[in-house]
Amino acid sequence: MKMNSTDILYDDVTAIVEGLGPDAQRFAGKTVLLAGGAGFLGRHFIAVFRRLNKDVLSTPCKILSVDNYITGQQLELYESGHHDPNVTDVWADVSAPLPVRHDVHFIIHAAGVASPAYYMKYPLETIESAVQGTKNLLELARKNPAIEGFLFFSSSEIYGDPDPKAIPTPETYHGNVSSVGPRACYDESKRLGETISTIYQQQFNVPVTIVRPFNVFGPGMRHDDRRVIPMFTYEALNGRAIPVHGDGRQTRTFTYITDAISGFFKTLLKGRPGEAYNIGNSNDEVSMTDLAKMYSSVIHGSTVRNIPYPSTYPAGEPQRRCPDLTKAAEHLGYASQIDLQTGLARFVAWARDQESYKDR
Ligand SMILES: NC(=O)c1ccc[n+]([C@@H]2O[C@H](COP(=O)([O-])OP(=O)(O)OC[C@H]3O[C@@H](n4cnc5c(N)ncnc54)[C@H](O)[C@@H]3O)[C@@H](O)[C@H]2O)c1
Repeated sequence: MKMNSTDILYDDVTAIVEGLGPDAQRFAGKTVLLAGGAGFLGRHFIAVFRRLNKDVLSTPCKILSVDNYITGQQLELYESGHHDPNVTDVWADVSAPLPVRHDVHFIIHAAGVASPAYYMKYPLETIESAVQGTKNLLELARKNPAIEGFLFFSSSEIYGDPDPKAIPTPETYHGNVSSVGPRACYDESKRLGETISTIYQQQFNVPVTIVRPFNVFGPGMRHDDRRVIPMFTYEALNGRAIPVHGDGRQTRTFTYITDAISGFFKTLLKGRPGEAYNIGNSNDEVSMTDLAKMYSSVIHGSTVRNIPYPSTYPAGEPQRRCPDLTKAAEHLGYASQIDLQTGLARFVAWARDQESYKDR
C-alpha cells in the first residue's frame, strides 16, 4: 500500500516509542533540555517526546528546546495541529552560557554543524558548538543536582580515515585524523567535546554518555541539507542524473532514523557514564556508486553521473565507514532493524510528498 509522508512520520515515531517500552517512564514528570532542537535529529526527539506526552506518560515531560538556527529551521516535523504546552523552543546559542533556571533532569546536546558543506562554511561556529557549547551544557549539568543523564552527540567522523584493519570500527580505535585538514574543524572539535565530557564525568560525576552516530538518514532531512541521501534524492526526483563525487568507490553505512533515535535513547538511559557508543547499521556498507544505482528501484528511470568534488565540499573524505556495534549490543541491547533498501524507499516516499524537494 502506498503511504503518504504523514503516515511514514507517524509510523516512525510509533516504532521509536514502542522500542522505548518501559524506559519511557524515566521521562515522566522530568525536564529535558534539548540543544539543537530545530535540527534533523532534534526535531525527531521532539516528535517522540510529544507522542510520549500524548499517549504514554501520565505525568508529561517538559522539553526546553534551544537552537540558534544556524542551519536549523523553526518548522515542526509533523503533528503541527497538536499543541503541546510542555514543549518550549527558544533561540539560544550554546556557545554562550544558558540562563536556565529550571531543574533539568536530562540534557541532550545535539547542537552542531553536521553537514560537511556547512561546516566548511562555518568552521569556527562548528568548533564552538562542540567545544564551548559542550562545556557550557556540562556546567549546567554539574550545577543541577537533579541531573540524571547527559548525551553528547559526537560522530563517527572522530575515527577519520580508519586503517582498513580497523573496519568495522570499534570504539577502542583511536582514529586517524588530521588536526589541520579541511575536516579538522568538525572531527577535532568532536574529539575535544568527547574529552571534555569524560573529564566532567570523572571530576564532577556528571552522568555523561557519548554517542558516535554513523550517517543517519530519514524523513525530515532538508532538501538543501547537502548530505548525500537528501542530495541524491533531490536530484533524482527532479529528473537529473545523480551526481557521485569522484570515482564513487568511497563507502558508507546508513542508519535509518528509527534505529538511530532508538539507539540514542538507549545510550542516554542505559550507557555507562563516561563511555562512548557507536550507533549505526553495520549490515549494508555501500559505495556511493552503488547507492546511486539503488535509486533506480525507487525512482523510475534515475541515472548516475560522476562529477569532480565541488570546491564547497571539504577534501579528504574517509574512504570507508562501517561501525562495529558489539559494544552497543552488549551494553545497550541495541541492534538495527531497518535495512538500507527499506529505509531508502521510506525516505524517497516521504521526499516525493514535500514541496521543498521539487524544483521551483
Ligand atoms: N545526522 C547524522 O547523521 C549525524 C552523524 C554524526 C553526528 N551527528 C551529530 O548529531 C548532532 C545533530 O545532528 P543533525 O543531523 O540533527 O544536524 P543538523 O545540522 O540537522 O542540526 C543541528 C542543529 O544544531 C543547531 N546549532 C548549531 N550550532 C548551534 C549553537 N551554537 N547553538 C544552538 N544551536 C546550534 C543548528 O541550527 C541545527 O538546527 C550534531 O552535533 C551532529 O554533528 C549527526
